[in-house]
Amino acid sequence: MPNDIKNICCIGAGYVGGPTMAVIANKCPNIQVNVVDINDKRINQWNSNDLNKLPIYEPGLAEIIKVSRGRNLHFSTQVKDKIEKAEMIFISVNTPTKKTGIGAGKASDLKWVEICARQVAKYARGHTIVVEKSTLPVRTAEVIKSILEQSQSPYKNKSTPSTFDVLSNPEFLAEGSAIYDLTNPDRVLIGGENENAIKLLNDVYLNWIPQEKILKTNIWSSELAKLTANAFLAQRISSINSIGALCESTGADIREVARAIGSDSRIGSKFLDSGPGFGGSCFKKDILNLVYLCEYFGIPEVGDFWNSVVNLNKWHQHRISKLITSKLYGTLSGKKLVILGFAFKKNTNDTRESSAIQICKDLIEEGAILHIHDPKVNPEQISLDLGMTSSNDLKNKIGSALDGSWFEAKNLDDVFQDADAAIVLTEWDQYLDIDWGKTASKMRSPSWVFDARSILEPCEIINAGLLFWRVGDGLNRSKINN
Ligand code: NAD
Ligand code: UGA
Repeated sequence: MPNDIKNICCIGAGYVGGPTMAVIANKCPNIQVNVVDINDKRINQWNSNDLNKLPIYEPGLAEIIKVSRGRNLHFSTQVKDKIEKAEMIFISVNTPTKKTGIGAGKASDLKWVEICARQVAKYARGHTIVVEKSTLPVRTAEVIKSILEQSQSPYKNKSTPSTFDVLSNPEFLAEGSAIYDLTNPDRVLIGGENENAIKLLNDVYLNWIPQEKILKTNIWSSELAKLTANAFLAQRISSINSIGALCESTGADIREVARAIGSDSRIGSKFLDSGPGFGGSCFKKDILNLVYLCEYFGIPEVGDFWNSVVNLNKWHQHRISKLITSKLYGTLSGKKLVILGFAFKKNTNDTRESSAIQICKDLIEEGAILHIHDPKVNPEQISLDLGMTSSNDLKNKIGSALDGSWFEAKNLDDVFQDADAAIVLTEWDQYLDIDWGKTASKMRSPSWVFDARSILEPCEIINAGLLFWRVGDGLNRSKINN
C-alpha cells in the first residue's frame, strides 16, 4: 500500500462525482483526479470551454473547475485506463429505486454499482482502495468485496492478482450548496476495517478538513448512517408539512409554530420550512430503500413508520394542487396559471422528484394552461418530466384547444398577462423582486397568488388587490380579500 494517494479515479461524473472530485482536486494539487463516465455527452459538457455549459449548475462550481481542470482534474470516458492507474477509486454512480423484480418500487437497483465493481476487478492493478461514495443499502460493501475478490481468478492475464480494500464514505452534500458543503462539511464519515486504507482516505480529506470532523465507524454503521440521515431530514419536512395543514384549518401559522419549536435546542431550527413537499433524487429513494431493508430483515413495523414519511409527502403535493383547483372555482379549464419555479429547490437545475412535477401534472389534468418559468431548468427537461412537449409552437390557437397544456415562460416580463394565478413552487431569489402592483394590473380578475414556498411578502400582494394563499398560513387571507 502507498504512503499517500497520488492518483484517484472516480466512476460517475454526476451531481456527486463531478463536484466532489472538483473540490478534492482543488484542495489537493498533488493528487491527479480522473473522473470517468460512460455518458460521453456528459463528459463533453464537463470539458466544455464555456463554463456555462457544465452539466450541473452549482454556485462556485465553475470557478473551481476553471482552476483545476487540465491541471490535476480530468474528465474522460477512458474507464479502463483511469482504473488501471488509480490507487483509490470512488464509486459514485446512480443507485435508483428498482423498477422490476424482487423489491421493485423500494429496493435500490445496484446494477450500476455491480458493473463498476466488475470493471474495477478487471482493470485494477496492484492494491486498490475502493470507496463507496454512492448511497447504498447496508451491507453492500460485502457484495462489492465479493465481486472484487471472486472476479480475480478468471483474469489470469494479470501477473499477480489484484488486491482490494473497500471503504464506505457516504456523501452528505446538498444540491445548490454542494461546493460550500464539500468545502465546509459538518462531518466526513469513513467506515471500514483496514486501518491503513482508512488512514489514506483520512489523509486526503485532512488537506482541508480538521481531523475532529472526520468520523470513523465500522463499515455497516457508515452505510446505514447515510440512509438514516436522509430519512431523518425528510421526516422533519413531512412533520412540518403535516402540521402546516393543521395550521391552515385552525388559524395557526406554520412559520410561528416552526419558530417556537425550533428555539428548543433539542429540536433545532433547521429544516423546518414548510413547502410543496420534499423533492430531489434521494430522500424518497433512500427512505424506500430503508423500508425495503426493514421488511427484508423482518421488522415491517419499522418500515411502516418510515413509509409514512413518503406517503405524507405525496398526499401534501396533491393537497396543494387540489387546493388551487378549489380556490379557482373547481375548474382550471381554459385558465392560465403561471408556475414560478420547476427545480426541486433553488440554485440547482435538477428536477428529479421535484414536487413541481406532480403538482403541474395534477393541474394539467384539470385542464389548466401552464406557463412554466425556471431560471435554470431547460424546457426539454420539463417536457420529459411532464411527459408532454410544450405548446409554444401552437401559441396562436385559443381557448379549449390549449386546455391541459404547458408553455415555456422564457422571462417574467410578459408572462402574467391575462393570468388567473401565479404559483410559487421553487424559492428562487428573483421571485422576491416581482412587482406585484404592476403584475396585478396585467392579470385577469379575480387573480390569485399561491405561495407554496412562503417567500413572498403577503402585504404587498394583498395591497395590490390580489387574492393570496401561502402554505401553512391559517389566517386565510382570501377571506379578508373576498
Ligand atoms: P447521477 O445520476 O447524477 O450520476 C451518476 C453518473 O454515473 C451518471 O453520469 C452515469 O452515466 C454514471 N455511470 C453509471 N454507471 C456507470 C459505469 N458503469 N461507468 C461509468 N459511469 C457510470 O447521480 P448522483 O446524483 O451523482 O448520485 C450518485 C450517488 O450519490 C447516488 O447513490 C446518490 O444516492 C448519491 N448521493 C447523491 C446526492 C445528490 O445530491 N445528488 C447527494 C449525496 C449522495
Ligand atoms: C439532501 C440532504 O440534505 C443531503 O445531506 C444529502 O446528501 C442529499 O439529500 C442526498 O443524499 O442526495 P438535497 O436533496 O440536495 O440534499 O437537498 P435538501 O436541501 O435536503 O432539500 C431536499 C428537499 O427538501 C427540497 O425539495 C427542499 O426544497 C425541501 N426542503 C428542505 C423543505 O421543503 N423544507 C426544508 O426546511 C428543507
